[in-house]
Amino acid sequence: MGGQEEGPREAFIAGAWRETASRFPVVSPVDGTVVAEVSDCGPAEAHAAIAAAEVASGPWAAATAYERAQVLRRWFEAIGRHREDLARTMAREMGKPVSEGRAEVDYAAGFVEWYAEEAKRVYGTVVPSQFAGKRLWVRPEPVGIVYGITPWNFPAAMVTRKAAPALAAGCPFILKPAEESPLTALWLARLWEEAGGPPGTLQVLPARDPEALSRPFFEDARVRKLTFTGSTAVGRALYAQAAPTLKHVSLELGGQAPFLVFEDADIPRAVEEAMRAKFRNIGQSCVAANRLYVHRAVAAEFVRAYTARVQALKTGDPLAEDTQVGPLVNRQALEKVAAHVADALQRGATLVTGGAAQGLIYLPTVLTGVDPASRILHEETFGPVAPVVVFDQEEEAVAWANATEYGLAAYLWTRDLGRAFRVAEALRYGIVGVNDGVPSTPQAPFGGVKQSGLGREGGRWGIEEFLEPKYISLHLPD
Ligand code: SIN
Repeated sequence: MGGQEEGPREAFIAGAWRETASRFPVVSPVDGTVVAEVSDCGPAEAHAAIAAAEVASGPWAAATAYERAQVLRRWFEAIGRHREDLARTMAREMGKPVSEGRAEVDYAAGFVEWYAEEAKRVYGTVVPSQFAGKRLWVRPEPVGIVYGITPWNFPAAMVTRKAAPALAAGCPFILKPAEESPLTALWLARLWEEAGGPPGTLQVLPARDPEALSRPFFEDARVRKLTFTGSTAVGRALYAQAAPTLKHVSLELGGQAPFLVFEDADIPRAVEEAMRAKFRNIGQSCVAANRLYVHRAVAAEFVRAYTARVQALKTGDPLAEDTQVGPLVNRQALEKVAAHVADALQRGATLVTGGAAQGLIYLPTVLTGVDPASRILHEETFGPVAPVVVFDQEEEAVAWANATEYGLAAYLWTRDLGRAFRVAEALRYGIVGVNDGVPSTPQAPFGGVKQSGLGREGGRWGIEEFLEPKYISLHLPD
């Protein structure tokens, strides 16, 4: 069902579609044409959204978990009905191949479904007292108004991964979607409206100037929580801005995921999973395998099989059914990928395949013999380039994997159970995939350590980020 409907273009504030003084263009990465002009929100809209969220927050928090769950359930169903519209919108606004877009819609809907159910499992605690006449209990309460800032790389899933647990917990959620991908977020707002979401509970404010829009949210102490997914540099700056009003903060930041293939690995499976870990979303993912470490004994076999699979990837128009690699999101993204490849080659790497651009499509690339000092082994590439490095010892591979300021996701391939546990426990990362190239799933915690962020999204950990414990002590009458 769906696939042809145009989504909304106006901001969604206080349950109404609002025109703003001006609009800004959403530009197709395929051909640079304007896909749509959307409302350009600024401080006036931010203040209006905070006021509406404040009105909504009491009744939404006071609604029973069952009532909130029903709205979330209807939202989940509406997203499913518009799977095709959402997948095509993503392809048009940020270049995700439509087949991957469908998978993302399912992933995004999965968070809504999961938190519709989890809303009913927000339990309190009874604490034993040392005094016979006292009763102590702890009741989780919603943190209050949440401001969310989401990235363009997963325009649907990053919205629902934040908004669904916040709404399930009883918090109004105000969203600033990425400038590159506001259309998917506005679609999700329309579906929230269709699901009967009360005015002011979910609001979406697209903006060309994120700083101007965001300032009122940071300054206003009524906004109790910031949740952000994006780069480490921006995350640090937002963390500082949230400090004066002591907001709760969740930050999902950059990654530099290592992918370790040991000599005892199932090589055909490791190759398949390395394809998913590297080329899912054209490498534009915080958990994308950024660097592949392969044991010397299996390196030649791995590189041969992997290169054959990489060369078979179909590049092209993201709206074509068989496209696997579409354009990168913009020129800046392409330039960064090209610069990482040029730097590696200049330091002596061998280009096995790829290494060129066609428009904004960067051809899937494999590099070998990559010098340890190369930028691609230390910075987040966010593109379809796989640098392969050979190792000899387990300790060496683990040390290289951990030699980064990031700590989001890491992957390892082995058939040895002892090694699987040993290495998984030694890797200083928030997520470890053992023989699994795509560990992300709605019911599990997603998030990193070190400079990859604070807090977790997904699963029961994700809803705790939007709750705070209230301790109630009752002294019984004598
Ligand atoms: C991300 O890149 O931030 C999200 C990827 C995922 O959920 O797997």
